[in-house]
Amino acid sequence: MNNLVITGYGDDLTINGVRIGDLSPKEHEKIEKEKGGQNYKPLEDVVVSHVQDSSTLICRKPSNENIEKYVEEELIDGLCCYSAVNQGQLNEEIVNAVIHHLKNEKLPTVPRSIRHKYMAAFLMAATEITSMDKVVPKVAGVESWELTFKLCRRWGYKIKKIPKNKCIIVGAKGNFHGRSVSAVSMSDDPDAREDFGPFLPGIELVPYNDIEALENLFDKKGEFIAAFSVEPIQGEAGVIVPDDDYWPQVSALCKKHNILLAMDEVQTGFGRTGANFAHQLFGVKPDLMGCGKAAGGGILPVSFVAGRKDVIGTLTPGSEGSTIGGYPLASVVGTYAIKVLVDADLATNARIRGAQLMSHYEELMSEFPDKIKDVRGKGLLTAFEMFDEKRLDGHTVSVELLKRGVYAKETHHSTVRIAPALTIESHNIDNIAEHIRDVIKSL
Ligand SMILES: Cc1ncc(COP(=O)(O)O)c(C=O)c1O
Repeated sequence: MNNLVITGYGDDLTINGVRIGDLSPKEHEKIEKEKGGQNYKPLEDVVVSHVQDSSTLICRKPSNENIEKYVEEELIDGLCCYSAVNQGQLNEEIVNAVIHHLKNEKLPTVPRSIRHKYMAAFLMAATEITSMDKVVPKVAGVESWELTFKLCRRWGYKIKKIPKNKCIIVGAKGNFHGRSVSAVSMSDDPDAREDFGPFLPGIELVPYNDIEALENLFDKKGEFIAAFSVEPIQGEAGVIVPDDDYWPQVSALCKKHNILLAMDEVQTGFGRTGANFAHQLFGVKPDLMGCGKAAGGGILPVSFVAGRKDVIGTLTPGSEGSTIGGYPLASVVGTYAIKVLVDADLATNARIRGAQLMSHYEELMSEFPDKIKDVRGKGLLTAFEMFDEKRLDGHTVSVELLKRGVYAKETHHSTVRIAPALTIESHNIDNIAEHIRDVIKSL
């Protein structure tokens, strides 16, 4: 017999007598360490409680008087869940759509084996915003990349006529596409790969932003290569922006060799970089594109693959599926996530606020030339990189920013990414920059 008793909501949510609102940050940490996997290393001594506005969180920190208790403080969200919340936390239009849908329209969940009336809306909105022929809904970001990977292989065999099991997908060094076995098969990050082999065959990596390396590989093995599968700007690698002429050259090379250009816009899509999709900044169009994160408006996990009809057209019943991908509620949220992207012109705001943040970065670089090595980004996908010295530690910067009420996270030892909600207001950009300045000064 199981004696589990669960009652209450919010702080009163109580599991077998343990009320969530009574737990101190240390107690949260203890429970997570005991009962969860250690696959993340969250910032210490802080627990997010709820959202105050579109880019401010309320978090709990240990009380100075009593370590068993906590105090609540505001935290400017400089990361917005790794770009899952481009539309701003609790975006009113998306929340209203969800409430209306559940209370009035009453269709949360049916499987894909029977049609529901919201799929058509999502497909029309998603093909229109991406200017693609077809769209297939999925759930997590990595699933959209997985599906592009499968589609590239299938197109390679069925259309390009690559000999059976000889297909190669080319990726870029420093890539990040998620955590599935195929994504880590493409990764060159030792932490992501350790003891997860054997890995998927048929993958080759080239240095990012190196057209000659790609050309050499295409010249040597082009007949077996189905696709170059790649991020338009590398996010997890530390916001690496390629040269302006890289993508036009890549696109031309892919066309020359009849190789698909498959872009992973899970992090760069939905206005983040100052265009609806980052590839638009470079004047190219991929044949396939994966989207996730902000495709769910920060409310639900929603992802999708958009692409050419001859590529997505290679799917057949039984070759691909998802119980929850594109279910009615996700279709509504996905449609509204796109509606907000368009109506609020998030890309323009990303451009304006991104330029504001970048000019603060430039000032930082001239004020601290011995500490700041590089500043970079597009729109509101930004990062500053410090020199590779012990005292200039990205984690210390994150911890110090937290003390000053800003949430940001290092991507590597010396790089800190700032990517707030695209709804962020001017004064919060100035606040973030001011706190960064304080922290850098103190190092
Ligand atoms: C470019 C890119 N692709 C895929 C993913 C994986 O998304 P998810 O964690 O939702 O599976 C991420 C996550 O950071 C990403 O940045």
